[in-house]
Amino acid sequence: MLSPDPQQWRNPLRDDFDKRLPRIAGPSGLVIFGVTGDLARKKLLPAVYDLASRGLLPAGFSLVGYGRRDWSDEEFAEQVKASVQERARNPWRDEVWERLAEGIFFVKGDFVTDSAFDALAAKTQEIDQLRGTAGNWAYYLSVPPEFFSDVCHQLERSGLADGGEHGWRRVVIEKPFGHDERSARELNEIVNSVFPESSVFRIDHYLGKETVQNILALRFANQLFDPLFNSHYIDHVQITMAEDIGLGGRAGYYDGIGAARDVIQNHLLQLLALVAMEEPVTFNPAELQSEKLKVLRATHPVGPFSKTTARGQYTSGWQGSEQVVGLRQEEGFDPDSTTETYAAATFEISSRRWAGVPFYLRTGKRLGRRVTEIALVFKEAPHLPFEAGQTAAQGNNILVIRVQPDEGVLMRFGSKVPGSAMEVRDVNMDFSYSEAFTEESPEAYERLILDALLDEASLFPTNNEVEESWRILDPILDHWANHGRPDDYPAGTWGPSSADDMLRQTGRSWRRP
Ligand code: BG6
Repeated sequence: MLSPDPQQWRNPLRDDFDKRLPRIAGPSGLVIFGVTGDLARKKLLPAVYDLASRGLLPAGFSLVGYGRRDWSDEEFAEQVKASVQERARNPWRDEVWERLAEGIFFVKGDFVTDSAFDALAAKTQEIDQLRGTAGNWAYYLSVPPEFFSDVCHQLERSGLADGGEHGWRRVVIEKPFGHDERSARELNEIVNSVFPESSVFRIDHYLGKETVQNILALRFANQLFDPLFNSHYIDHVQITMAEDIGLGGRAGYYDGIGAARDVIQNHLLQLLALVAMEEPVTFNPAELQSEKLKVLRATHPVGPFSKTTARGQYTSGWQGSEQVVGLRQEEGFDPDSTTETYAAATFEISSRRWAGVPFYLRTGKRLGRRVTEIALVFKEAPHLPFEAGQTAAQGNNILVIRVQPDEGVLMRFGSKVPGSAMEVRDVNMDFSYSEAFTEESPEAYERLILDALLDEASLFPTNNEVEESWRILDPILDHWANHGRPDDYPAGTWGPSSADDMLRQTGRSWRRP
């Protein structure tokens, strides 16, 4: 039997000598709760295949689907195969599939019945014997948050939560993690009453994106950028996550949640934390998380919210050449709902580095195009030794970290227009991942599932980070709940006019990415 201590199956020589070598998970299995849901079908199951295809899963790796369907192992394997063939990043290879399929199992059950969890416990023990998973299990909760408590308690009752000497047990939790600070605290208490915080992996899939991790490389591996990241040089920061898709089949999930809870509370505040935090002593999880927490603790929303925030709901319009329906016509959406599909808000960070620099965060569905970026807009130079008019066409210098698509980094600055006169105009210097590197970026879920199996927690927000993020957002949500309803914006545009007003009154404007 292999040791339950992950440090012992790690090869210290490999770790110490070459950190660039791929990290392969040790003996382990993954149980997915909510395996028939959209996320599992579109992201999790293909990610498992992609990891297998890259040779990053251990020989006896086992995948257990848990759900209410009356499926046999073979029927479940067929479902996995269909999602993989539809969505996996790596090409289909029979030999990879055949090896993976040997370790695919299904357990039928709901989230409350003792006998179903007892059956799961028996199944995992059987797999331990059969496939050498060594009692090491990660439980992926891809279920609505109202079931977190039931599942955690059942895992505890059935002896699945604690492997004792028989292996490690970890829980991986999908968002939404609460709907305000109080509910997040309650959920954390429930989860932490069963699993110690070191065994809890909360997913924010943006942290699994290569370009998001590149924020750390850009800032802390170079001398060129980070010295300018402060209030002496930066006028303001815009963090945008725009989507062109509408709610489609997700209306049921989304109604009552909205853009701020769905995206600002997690993805965008995490991006803010990575851009604004101080240099960690090392990149080990505790140091990184504590720097992020520090900056989140110093972050607060700026009021008055009637002027410094904006929210909207999309109406019908054109998305490129496609005519699309408005939110109120989406199937399953309550037409009277005040749930926003666009949210923008202003934040400040009370620190020596950032005092007085507004961070404008915005996100929305059915906007002009799909793009996520962080734009640091510089102040004007304190003095311009040019004649009036020579620099009239020049805007502020901007550094843009393009998270997706066209991943890269763009610098916008003034340059002389060729000719005998002195005229300065803005130009772009553009680094693109796809041109600079031949390697393809792994999908965020590949990285995060592998990290959870490896006990590598750097890219997972802690309970404190999640609670702080709700603390930052709650005052805005309270204000919105008590003040009218969202403004309309036609699909395919860049949000409601109130969002433009929000910046215009400060003498600024949104970037058109
Ligand atoms: C999810 C949100 O977290 O992120 C979705 O719940 C959103 O509403 C999705 O569509 C976007 O992710 P990505 O990786 O496509 O930018």
